[in-house]
Amino acid sequence: MPSNFAAFLVGEGVHPLSVGPAPYTSPGPSEIVVKNGAVAVNPIEYILQDHLMPSFPMHYPMILGQDLAGVVEEIGSNVTQFKVGDRVLGHAFGMLHNNNDPESAFQLYTVVGEEMAVAIPDEMSFEAATVLPLCFSTAAAGLYQDNFLNLPPPSLNPTPRNQTLLVWGGASCVGSNAIQLAVASGYEVVATASAKNFDYIKQLGATQVYDYHSDSVVSDIIACLKGKVIAGAFNAVKDGFDGCLEIVQASEGSKFISSVLPVPEVLPAGISSGWILMEPAKFSKLAYVDFLTPAIKEGKYIVAPKPLIVGKGLEAIQSGIDRQKQGMSAEKVVISL
Ligand SMILES: NC(=O)c1ccc[n+]([C@@H]2O[C@H](COP(=O)([O-])OP(=O)(O)OC[C@H]3O[C@@H](n4cnc5c(N)ncnc54)[C@H](OP(=O)(O)O)[C@@H]3O)[C@@H](O)[C@H]2O)c1
Repeated sequence: MPSNFAAFLVGEGVHPLSVGPAPYTSPGPSEIVVKNGAVAVNPIEYILQDHLMPSFPMHYPMILGQDLAGVVEEIGSNVTQFKVGDRVLGHAFGMLHNNNDPESAFQLYTVVGEEMAVAIPDEMSFEAATVLPLCFSTAAAGLYQDNFLNLPPPSLNPTPRNQTLLVWGGASCVGSNAIQLAVASGYEVVATASAKNFDYIKQLGATQVYDYHSDSVVSDIIACLKGKVIAGAFNAVKDGFDGCLEIVQASEGSKFISSVLPVPEVLPAGISSGWILMEPAKFSKLAYVDFLTPAIKEGKYIVAPKPLIVGKGLEAIQSGIDRQKQGMSAEKVVISL
C-alpha cells in the first residue's frame, strides 16, 4: 500500500498547515485513487483556515483542497472510464462530503468519484490541468442543476438558443468556466471583467465584455441587451450580485440569478436566485463525462485561467493559500507535487 502524506490544518486559524503521514484509502466501487501531480488553491481554503464560515462543520486535524491532477493509482470495482496509470484531472469532493479527508486534495493520494474526473492528454501538464475542477463544477452546477439556471447540456456542436446569458466576473476562475459552458450550450454570453482581460474573455467565447469599474457598466449592459432575450445571469464574484439584479430586472427573459455566494433573502417581485450548492448527481455526467471528456480530448475546451505555480511539495501549499488570499486576476495558484 502506498505511503501517504498530507498537509493538515491542525486547529482553528492555525498557520501554517502541518505536513505529516496520512492514511491511504482505497477507492469505493465507483471511485478512483489519484496520485497527485499538482493541486490548485481556491478562496475557500483561506476561508476555512481562517474560520470565516463558522457554521461550516470542521474537525481537526483535517485536510483541505478540491483541485487535483495526477495519475490513477487504483480503481474501484465498477470503474469503466479509467485504468491504472491514466493521467487525469479531478474534483476532490471531501469538503462537500462533510470534510471527508480521503477525498481532499492536499495530500499525495486522493479518492475521487469516477464521474468527477476526466482523462487529460500527455501534452497537458498536471499544473495546467489542475486549475479546472472546482470552478468547472461550480459553473456547471449554477448553469445546469434544475434548481438553478437549468440550461440545456453543453455540446461540442451546440444548438443556437437565440438567448443571452450575463456572466458577471468573467475573468474569475468560476466565470471563465461559466462563459465556456454557456457558449457550449448554445448561448450568447455578455460578461464583465477588467479592461486588461477583455481579450481573454473574448477567447473564452463571450461576444461582449464590459469593464465593471465603469460607472455606466450596468446601464451599458442593459442597453446592449435591449431587443434580446436573456437566459438569466450567473454571478461569479463577491460584488457582482447587485449589478446582475439590476440588469435582469431591466431585461426581457429569465429572471433567475445563479450566484457563487449567499444571496439576499428578500428579492424584488418576479426575481429569483440561488447560492450555488453542488449536487454532482445533477451535473457530473452531463458536464464531466459527456462534455468535458471529449472536449479535452479534442482540444475544444480552454483549460483556463493559466496556472501561477508558487512552489513544489506539500510544504508549499500554505504559501499558495496565502498568495490566493491576496487576490487573483485571470490566474490560479498551483503547487506541483
Ligand atoms: N458556491 C460555490 O460552491 C463556490 C465554488 C467556488 C468558488 N466560489 C466563490 O466564487 C468566487 C470566485 O472564485 P474564483 O476562484 O473564481 O475567484 P478568482 O478567480 O480568485 O477571482 C478573481 C477574479 O474576480 C474578478 N472580479 C473581482 N471582483 C469583481 C467584480 N466586482 N466584478 C467583476 N469581476 C470581479 C477579477 O476580475 P479582473 O481580474 O478582470 O478584475 C479576478 O480575475 C469566490 O468568492 C469563491 O469563494 C463559490
